[in-house]
Amino acid sequence: EKGGYEHFMLKEIHEQPRSIQDCFRGRLNAKDGWVQLGGIKDHIEKIGKAKRIIFVACGTSWHAALVGEYLFEDLARIPVEVEYASEFRYRNPIIGEDDIVIAISQSGETADTLAALDIAKKKGATTLGICNVVGSSISRVTDAGSYTHAGPEIGVASTKAFTAQVTVLTLMALSIAKERATMSESQFRTILTELEQIPNKVSKVLEQNDLIEHISDVYQNANNALYLGRGSSFPVALEGALKLKEISYIHAEGYPAAEMKHGPIALIDEEMPVFVIATQGTSYEKVVSNIQEVKARKGKIIAIVTEGDTQVKAMADHVIEIPDTDENLVPLLATIPLQLLSYHVAVMRGCNVDQPRNLAKSVTVE
Ligand code: F6R
Repeated sequence: EKGGYEHFMLKEIHEQPRSIQDCFRGRLNAKDGWVQLGGIKDHIEKIGKAKRIIFVACGTSWHAALVGEYLFEDLARIPVEVEYASEFRYRNPIIGEDDIVIAISQSGETADTLAALDIAKKKGATTLGICNVVGSSISRVTDAGSYTHAGPEIGVASTKAFTAQVTVLTLMALSIAKERATMSESQFRTILTELEQIPNKVSKVLEQNDLIEHISDVYQNANNALYLGRGSSFPVALEGALKLKEISYIHAEGYPAAEMKHGPIALIDEEMPVFVIATQGTSYEKVVSNIQEVKARKGKIIAIVTEGDTQVKAMADHVIEIPDTDENLVPLLATIPLQLLSYHVAVMRGCNVDQPRNLAKSVTVE
């Protein structure tokens, strides 16, 4: 059942080229230039007119929502708020009929996310779901939604569900962009073409497994780790840190790279591994400066860079290359090495990878 892999988590990490492809099926065609999410088709006009969109989610799904915020704002030019479901439900949130509330949940059963939806519905908002488990509670109570089609995820640490959530969010952002005419046709087609190539590029990232295993070996005894990224790579940093915490029990924090100097920089010494997403794009030079700040304090840099990078390579202790892609799609690639790294570190530390202590696959109590 583990398909020859030692753990479900490793199997699920390796399934990602396939699960992302499954998520695309019947939903996009780069050659003809269209995107369609059947589940939200009937609501697309209303979504296009919405004053804002609010995402509610927990854990890894909340990180996907943060990536969604960048995508929706950049591509569809709609204001987005991202809320922890558990916080949202206990406030007196200001929502009305013009709002769209989108719940993201792998299991579709998370108690706090369900409760947040209940409040949104009572206040008259349109509710959508992005779930993996077909027929789950969240998929049933929402007005409409799109499944991620990642297939069953058994490992407690979410991997392929996350990349499938980000894929659906990308397709949703593109559908809304089309409805609102916020992208030029050429921009639209370029990103579709790039998106279609993501499964192949994920396979290329997975080929770096041996290098990632070697890096995991070097840092397996760390007591702390810092993860940094800017733009939509900031949520990738959060997700990388969460994966390390939950399965290897190493304390890790994700931070927007520029915030480091407002506190966490005090923690940096020669014992501190700092994982940085430093791919080509608008904030590349800024991230390079952040790396210099870490190196000046003798921190260890493990950087995820774009293939062919030379500048970061010259400064970092280790680099992991990922193929070049559209800046909006970087999270789909940059997440993969961080998943593999957490996996290998956890195995080396003798942890129960598929069933980490104190965690459950679906959190149906608040
Ligand atoms: C982390 C993880 C959890 C879940 C969270 C939400 O790897 O699996 O943080 O993401 O409990 O679960 P869902 O997506 O089922 O609502």
